[in-house]
Amino acid sequence: MPVELIRTGIPGLDQVLKGGLRKNSTILITGAPGTGKTIIALQFIYYGAKDCNENGIFITTEENLEDIKQFAKNLGMDIPSMESKGRIFFVQKPLTTMKGGIASIKGMTDAIKKHNIKRVALDSLIFFEYLYPRFNGNKIEFRRQVLLFMHQMKKAGVTFLAVSERSVTDFDRLSYDMMDFVFEGFIVLSRIRKGSYFERVITVAKIRGQNHSLDVYPLTIGDDGLKVLYDQTPFSLVEKEESGFKQG
Ligand SMILES: Nc1ncnc2c1ncn2[C@@H]1O[C@H](COP(=O)(O)OP(=O)(O)OP(=O)(O)O)[C@@H](O)[C@H]1O
Ligand SMILES: [Mg+2]
Repeated sequence: MPVELIRTGIPGLDQVLKGGLRKNSTILITGAPGTGKTIIALQFIYYGAKDCNENGIFITTEENLEDIKQFAKNLGMDIPSMESKGRIFFVQKPLTTMKGGIASIKGMTDAIKKHNIKRVALDSLIFFEYLYPRFNGNKIEFRRQVLLFMHQMKKAGVTFLAVSERSVTDFDRLSYDMMDFVFEGFIVLSRIRKGSYFERVITVAKIRGQNHSLDVYPLTIGDDGLKVLYDQTPFSLVEKEESGFKQG
């Protein structure tokens, strides 16, 4: 069967992926705070429904859904209009009120069937970390639960995008986490210093079974959302290489 690719909802990223994401694959987006992870997850769900006819569920650990919707609105996404049409669903799992384990997530697979859901975004894996703290002798249980959830999503036939946090995202010194190997796709966001300001960048570290670009690309965030400038190489990296030559 030929591989079916779906559009990500992030302008420019499909070109980097040489066509888009494999339908029904599992993708992890990681990066330091403020690098654009939540925006990517929001666009994946919103434009997936709006432009690709794929209904979606957005699971968030944020306290306040209204804040997220306002945040999305400032980036050009009218979440309530898609919600009222039954095309996207926002599920809130505030960390402070999670007591019942993932039992409540079991209803997710039913909802997927009922609403013909094709995309699920989870922002972020902190959700599981809270339930099964990794640094409490519980690392294995944490992984097991993430894996279990991932497999449920796979079985349900959706394309699953999860967000995870990482403090250091220097591409040359990236420390890997077990979860990076478990997901089929792994995308890293970062900022590179360019004189007195930082340039936002993205790289696709892996997509299993797919031929994608390994380059580092600049990205911009503005009123119309997050875009990948796929036909440019980051200035900061070019400079780094040039100064390397001079020293050598
Ligand atoms: N309307 C906007 N216009 C321009 N830039 C924006 C806009 N909204 C957000 N940003 C930028 O996007 C960044 C936040 O992106 P996002 O919330 O997706 O990051 P994140 O990686 O999810 O961060 P965290 O790890 O803290 O959740 C902010 O640092 C801000 O600079
Ligand atoms: Mg975020």
